[in-house]
Amino acid sequence: MFILLFLIISPHLVYSCDEVTKNKIDFLEALINDSIEKSKDYKVRTDNSNFFVNTNDSAIPIEYGTFDFIVVGAGSSGSVVSSRLSEVEKWDILLLEAGDLNDDLTEIPYLYELLQLSERNWGYFTTPQKNGCFGRKNRQCPYHRGKVVGGSGSINGLGFTRGNRGDYDKWASLGNLGWSYDDLLPYFKKMENFESDNIDLRYRGFGGPLNVAYKEPKQDISDIVYCALKRGKRYTEDYNAKDQLGISRYQRNIRCGKRESGATAYVRPSMTRHNFNLTLEAFVTKIVIDQTTKTANGVEFMKNGKKYKASSRREVIISGGAVNSPQLLMLSGIGPADELRKHNIPIIQELPVGQYLKDHPAFRIEYRSNQTVPKQSFRQLLEKFVQGKGMLTNLENTLTYTFVNTKNTSTVPDLECIFIASNPVPIKIPSLTNYIPEVENYYKNVNQQTDYSIVVLLLHPQSVGSLKLKSKDPRDFPLIDVGIFSAPEDLEMFYKATKFFELFEELKYPQRMNFTMLTFDFCNEFKKNSKEYWYCAIQNISYSAYHISSTVKMGQRQDPHAVVDNRLKVYGIEKLRVADCSIMPTTISGHTNAACFVIGERAADWIKLDYGIPILF
Ligand SMILES: Cc1cc2nc3c(=O)[nH]c(=O)nc-3n(C[C@H](O)[C@H](O)[C@H](O)COP(=O)(O)OP(=O)(O)OC[C@H]3O[C@@H](n4cnc5c(N)ncnc54)[C@H](O)[C@@H]3O)c2cc1C
Ligand SMILES: *[C@@H]1O[C@H](CO)[C@@H](O)[C@H](O)[C@H]1NC(C)=O
Ligand SMILES: *[C@@H]1O[C@H](CO)[C@@H](O)[C@H](O)[C@H]1NC(C)=O
Ligand SMILES: *[C@@H]1O[C@H](CO)[C@@H](O)[C@H](O)[C@H]1NC(C)=O
Ligand SMILES: *[C@@H]1O[C@H](CO)[C@@H](O)[C@H](O)[C@H]1NC(C)=O
Ligand SMILES: *[C@@H]1O[C@H](CO)[C@@H](O)[C@H](O)[C@H]1NC(C)=O
Ligand SMILES: *[C@@H]1O[C@H](CO)[C@@H](O)[C@H](O)[C@H]1NC(C)=O
Ligand SMILES: *[C@@H]1O[C@H](CO)[C@@H](O)[C@H](O)[C@H]1NC(C)=O
Repeated sequence: MFILLFLIISPHLVYSCDEVTKNKIDFLEALINDSIEKSKDYKVRTDNSNFFVNTNDSAIPIEYGTFDFIVVGAGSSGSVVSSRLSEVEKWDILLLEAGDLNDDLTEIPYLYELLQLSERNWGYFTTPQKNGCFGRKNRQCPYHRGKVVGGSGSINGLGFTRGNRGDYDKWASLGNLGWSYDDLLPYFKKMENFESDNIDLRYRGFGGPLNVAYKEPKQDISDIVYCALKRGKRYTEDYNAKDQLGISRYQRNIRCGKRESGATAYVRPSMTRHNFNLTLEAFVTKIVIDQTTKTANGVEFMKNGKKYKASSRREVIISGGAVNSPQLLMLSGIGPADELRKHNIPIIQELPVGQYLKDHPAFRIEYRSNQTVPKQSFRQLLEKFVQGKGMLTNLENTLTYTFVNTKNTSTVPDLECIFIASNPVPIKIPSLTNYIPEVENYYKNVNQQTDYSIVVLLLHPQSVGSLKLKSKDPRDFPLIDVGIFSAPEDLEMFYKATKFFELFEELKYPQRMNFTMLTFDFCNEFKKNSKEYWYCAIQNISYSAYHISSTVKMGQRQDPHAVVDNRLKVYGIEKLRVADCSIMPTTISGHTNAACFVIGERAADWIKLDYGIPILF
């Protein structure tokens, strides 16, 4: 009892942070300045040809050795799978990652958008969209994906949301045994170290590898909460515990003010293990499958312009994320027959890969307040950052997440609302946007020191997109059709959601501030606040929120979209699993990263179970 009590009050004593030195601050300042300069000339890649210098497809691969397991992709899920498998000392693990190792730059949360203009981002764009992304050149929204250890979790917005109990219970009710909320809760708890002085231990964990903490500085949110309550919403202490609905403080993956990801929480601590081989800048182009036995027994990859082959004694696990995993499966002969035939790829297994793409559309609006927060000195911000405090430990000044069921019919939310306040950071971080000039002007007018924003996300949109190949050549990027607003209901729902923005009207009073919505001048042809005006704004500004899922869907064999079974095994192929965001059977009620970690945990235990290794919690 005593020991338990001690642990409850001090979950964050599990690790220690860095010391502040002048050298450290000088180093960070130079690093940031230099990276901002570099980003200005950065040319986003348009294909994968950089992996193929001095070689051609007919090159005979160099043998890279034989491993028990090969994991493709060191992203959120792949980090966990490879790290957990390497706990079994007699197994050797090869983890292949197309990007490089995370570093000081990826660990500064405030700079996250800068990473979009660097080699850490694959540099994808969606296909031209029919019903949205109108504010982007050629109607193509950028589609950021991490190409670095930690994957998209190394370039993402850090928000930590599990989603809703009902999401996972739905997965289980669709026949996916072992995926209900009660089945997954032990993994959600095992993986985290939640820094909170008000932790509900029935739902939350401490002492796990992945740090979760509230934002610093912990600003007063009472006014926002007051307004939300007045608008019929409720306050929730912790949206990742018993009740998700309501307004709560924002939780994110952070440790000592630095980004926490699969890289920092799982991969780096595993790198000292003798049986853990992380091979970087290795782009996997093909899963090697024995045609007669339909068994995966290795992969081919490109590194430093050379072609290699690695073999697996036991299994190959694909964790390339919901864009690259389906691409790799199709390049290897696993996919829809007509799609493979179109590109002259010999069919090994016909499966509906890439045909069911889901994402969360997001819409953001800006408000000008009549209060200006004074800019802080960059040096001082850096000094605070090293101590794990201050605004550089945040991406923006995100204060709260609100989960709402707009129809009030269930405890599963259908809308999420993110509240972001103005901030004192004196520099503006460049990002990859592809805006048309009219929309670019709108954003140029945004002022960090005065403006507030609200982002709304549709959590369970009806729209469906697809992931297809451009060609059989692994140099080509795949075609990402996010299908934003392909279902008109989604657009209508955003329109209705604009009433949530009235929150700001209320905020005037307690804060004695004046808020004015920045007008969408590019929609001037429509009457302000008319339905047409809002549709114009929504279709121009909305984007797909990088929560792509379901392109390698888990489901029962008879499910017309299912590619893997509940143990994440690819139907019809032996010794091949997929473990990442692409297996989600349905969208979840929140940002996807936490679920990707849990998918990694669950996958590792399915594998251990299959080989008779005892499971430990
Ligand atoms: C800009 C942005 C903001 C986001 N914000 C949030 C947020 O605030 N909260 C949240 O919960 N979620 C957020 N997400 C989503 C979340 O980060 C992802 O859902 C999650 O990281 C996906 O995990 P994954 O393992 O499926 O794929 P990834 O993390 O993308 O990992 C895939 C890895 O595989 C590697 N790879 C791919 N193909 C190959 C290949 N052929 N050979 C070798 N390696 C390969 C990639 O380089 C990458 O490292 C955001 C995402 C983005 C891009
Ligand atoms: C970094 O940039 C800031 C602002 O642009 C400037 O004041 C500072 O001198 C620069 N520092 C270094 C080390 O270049
Ligand atoms: C392709 O690469 C192989 C092996 O490196 C080489 O022998 C062959 O000549 C190359 N073919 C062409 C067309 O360059
Ligand atoms: C990984 O394996 C390759 C090929 O066998 C070897 O060259 C490399 O040194 C290994 N790396 C590590 C980190 O063990
Ligand atoms: C939502 O429904 C519950 C009961 O089902 C009711 O008590 C509550 O007042 C409703 N809230 C709103 C905002 O309509
Ligand atoms: C902002 O506007 C409000 C409402 O009009 C007013 O009460 C307040 O004094 C203004 N604040 C500043 C700093 O101008
Ligand atoms: C709020 O500010 C706008 C412009 O900044 C101004 O036109 C308006 O009168 C102000 N409203 C109040 C109540 O102060
Ligand atoms: C989006 O903005 C552009 C630029 O002003 C405008 O031409 C277009 O009509 C808008 N889109 C919609 C759907 O209204």
